[in-house]
Amino acid sequence: MVLGRSMFRASRGNAPHSGEIVSARAVVKTYATGKETFQALKGVDFTVHAGEMVAVMGPSGSGKTTLLNVLSGLDTIDSGQIWLEGKDLATMSDKARTAYRAQRMGFIFQVYNLLPVLSAVENVELPLLVSGVSQKEARRRSMAALERVGLDGWAAHRPAELSGGQRQRVTIARALVNNPAIVWADEPTGALDSKTANEIMGLLHELNQRDGLTSVIVTHDPAIGARTDRIVRMRDGEIVTRIDPILLTEPNLLATASGS
Ligand SMILES: Nc1ncnc2c1ncn2[C@@H]1O[C@H](COP(=O)(O)OP(=O)(O)OP(=O)(O)O)[C@@H](O)[C@H]1O
Ligand SMILES: [Mg+2]
Repeated sequence: MVLGRSMFRASRGNAPHSGEIVSARAVVKTYATGKETFQALKGVDFTVHAGEMVAVMGPSGSGKTTLLNVLSGLDTIDSGQIWLEGKDLATMSDKARTAYRAQRMGFIFQVYNLLPVLSAVENVELPLLVSGVSQKEARRRSMAALERVGLDGWAAHRPAELSGGQRQRVTIARALVNNPAIVWADEPTGALDSKTANEIMGLLHELNQRDGLTSVIVTHDPAIGARTDRIVRMRDGEIVTRIDPILLTEPNLLATASGS
């Protein structure tokens, strides 16, 4: 398994910068509402290595979504530094940031954000068409992504003709279609019943184990957290504990995670 992961990363040319996909130091994020300001992140340090599957847990309002938004470059920070595959986010233009997000990041949210008038495959290929990939190539890659999530027979169906779990598989296929360096998921199973949630989590786990997919998953569900490599706990805008069960039991992974 360890060998498989490192080979996959090497073949994608994805592991420069000691395999750090995202790294954050002393990140502070303040929201201003009227005259009040609120510090949603109070100096957060956080690093994700290639091939890791990380859970972010913590009470409502602790800053989980804020952390995802700033680490993925969707929102700005007040102070601190963020590097994406070794590149300082602050030095990237808006255009470069947007392009990086489109090409190197995938997003999965609790609500599906699928366009109702488009079929499953059309929803998946939309980001490719927007970034200039040809119709034919976009269709080929989108069908492959649907296959990866077990939906190859459902390509022509519109979201309304799919179950909640199938819709979430479509959004996962869409997140994967660009072969991203990292996938961000904010409560991806929050709207699903527990059996379907378990299936979706199983799929994300399989993509991590089989393909080395790097992901950060915000969840309230301890059972989901337990299926990741590492749980990062947040409280009041701070990371309070890091639990690395796999790194403790499989020292070899440490070497792989640090890129050696
Ligand atoms: N756009 C905003 N303007 C003002 N305050 C905000 C904004 N977004 C978030 N906050 C505040 O920042 C804090 C952290 O919010 P965040 O959404 O990151 O929490 P969360 O951990 O994701 O919570 P949940 O589990 O409920 O999704 C909260 O107190 C919230 O009210
Ligand atoms: Mg949230």
